[in-house]
Amino acid sequence: MSVQLGIIIIVCALLVNIFMEKKQHTQTDDVINDVYDYIVVGGGTAGSIIATRLSEDAATSVLLIEAGVFHPLGFQHNIPYIFDGGYYTVSQKHSHKGFNDQKSYWPRGRVLGGSGNINAMQYTRGSPWNYEEWKKAGCDGWGYRDVLPYFIKSEDMQLPEFVSSPFHGKGGPLAVSSGYQSEATQLFFHAGQELGYNRTDYNGYDQEGFGVLQTNIRNGVRSSASFEYLRKARYRPNLHVSLRSFVTKISIKANRAVGVYFVKDSRKHYVSTRKEIILSAGTINSPQLLMLSGIGPKTHLQELDIPVVADLPVGENLQDHLGLFMPSKTDKVETLNADLMQSKGHIYPDIQIINIFALLPNLFGFTEATAREIVPEPGNGFTIYILITKPLSRGSIKLRSKDAFDYPLIDPNYLSDTRDVKTLVGGVRIWEKILQTRPYQNMGLKEDEHKMSFCSQHEFRSNAYWECYIRHVAITTYHPTSTCKMDPENDPSTVVDTQLRVKGIKGLRVVDASIFPNITSGNTNIPTVMVAERAADFIRGVDSATYL
Ligand SMILES: Cc1cc2nc3c(=O)[nH]c(=O)nc-3n(C[C@H](O)[C@H](O)[C@H](O)COP(=O)(O)OP(=O)(O)OC[C@H]3O[C@@H](n4cnc5c(N)ncnc54)[C@H](O)[C@@H]3O)c2cc1C
Ligand SMILES: *[C@@H]1O[C@H](CO)[C@@H](O)[C@H](O)[C@H]1NC(C)=O
Ligand SMILES: *[C@@H]1O[C@H](CO)[C@@H](O)[C@H](O)[C@H]1NC(C)=O
Repeated sequence: MSVQLGIIIIVCALLVNIFMEKKQHTQTDDVINDVYDYIVVGGGTAGSIIATRLSEDAATSVLLIEAGVFHPLGFQHNIPYIFDGGYYTVSQKHSHKGFNDQKSYWPRGRVLGGSGNINAMQYTRGSPWNYEEWKKAGCDGWGYRDVLPYFIKSEDMQLPEFVSSPFHGKGGPLAVSSGYQSEATQLFFHAGQELGYNRTDYNGYDQEGFGVLQTNIRNGVRSSASFEYLRKARYRPNLHVSLRSFVTKISIKANRAVGVYFVKDSRKHYVSTRKEIILSAGTINSPQLLMLSGIGPKTHLQELDIPVVADLPVGENLQDHLGLFMPSKTDKVETLNADLMQSKGHIYPDIQIINIFALLPNLFGFTEATAREIVPEPGNGFTIYILITKPLSRGSIKLRSKDAFDYPLIDPNYLSDTRDVKTLVGGVRIWEKILQTRPYQNMGLKEDEHKMSFCSQHEFRSNAYWECYIRHVAITTYHPTSTCKMDPENDPSTVVDTQLRVKGIKGLRVVDASIFPNITSGNTNIPTVMVAERAADFIRGVDSATYL
């Protein structure tokens, strides 16, 4: 009953959206000048925000170049996997044994709004200690006290219980609300109580505990950077947005970025900048574009005959959250919803557990044989998703060729650090405890539901069994980061300085999830929002958020 009502509300809101878009449409997409003050490459989460903030000054001209199209609706939670850049990783050595060619599918949003318009809308800032660690490593201006005002500035908290919290903001662009809560949500909280966990606001003071999922949804509609920032800014006369425009190279003369080459309607274009180029093409494509422009590891560029402009470790340090779906069938409870728990470690949760009150089909590309065992028949049930928040394995992005249209080589190198396996097994042990609590014991779950023939050489439920299970079926959480690492000037492992300027090159910044020195311990979209808000202030030379 309530579920149907929710769907009806969403549909109505979407129709209003389409109507408003039609009325507002102008010609901006077709106008491209020869020169702009700022050129922003990539209109995803970060690029949408940078273009909006920089064009707030009517005297500043800005061009946003985006490979994808404009889509008035984005995509709702249930179909995020359709509209994408369709990448696959290279075959993995230590994971993905239950997938074709041991490859992981990596969708990316090829649309105005980027991955922020195809994602699952989960609102998670990560641990305060992520940022404290960045600062300790030498990233001045990136401690928790420095970044918190930018989380608050970008937020429009809708949940009454959090509105007056000093950790949350009201009146910013991105709405934060929570989804429909079912009877099963309460069961999950009861299980948490039984295990001794408190209820918590996982974006507030205490990360450890059980909490209701916070999501970027406004009145039933996705609240993303492109919808909430760019939708209004797009019609400013000093901001041009060029869609279906694929950037192939940044032109660098005498160590200064001077312009951008891109292909639109099968034609080559060139625009130049008076001030700066901001690269916001995301964790895969920002390093790809830097390398195509001669900025990257010297030997790799030389192998491909690309003249070296700057020898920097671009594309290294790739990180992602690997996770595990644990489906359980039950007929005892009405299901279809998501909640969240973060747990373990007083300052640094190393596991995030999401309880999705539904069973999922094979969205992830398991081989047929694996899917037959692990993907449940449609029906009632829930899926607990366990993800590792602070992975230690490191991978890389490399070029396959000099052709900008060629897909780069993506190697997350999952589970190459065996400590990541141990952490995930730890997550499985918490999951086992949750299933042993009274609310779950009453659901009539099957004892051997997760006993797989592909790991039958190990004793069921032993550490070795779960390691085998993890190496077969763990999947990406779609959170790649850190391929253009930020850090102090003198650290040779880094690509950009603490103001996000590419080292040794003038007039070029990287602003997106690729600059995180390390992945944050939660979903990555909101930390990217914070990075973009912060970078806009660096570029303009202002402090727009009130310091605590
Ligand atoms: C399926 C999925 C689910 C997710 N769920 C969540 C979630 O629930 N919560 C959360 O916090 N995070 C989630 N994420 C992650 C989050 O969306 C990303 O971390 C975030 O969008 C990164 O922002 P970005 O600006 O770095 O890159 P993106 O948003 O990916 O933007 C990059 C943009 O650059 C454009 N581009 C790339 N190359 C070129 C080129 N050569 N020329 C022109 N344009 C180019 C792309 O088209 C894209 O628009 C999810 C991601 C995916 C894919
Ligand atoms: C990144 O993580 C590694 C491994 O935990 C740690 O040694 C390093 O100090 C971290 N660096 C930053 C900048 O957070
Ligand atoms: C739960 O909250 C109470 C009261 O604030 C506190 O004393 C207790 O330590 C908390 N328990 C956990 C596990 O965090």
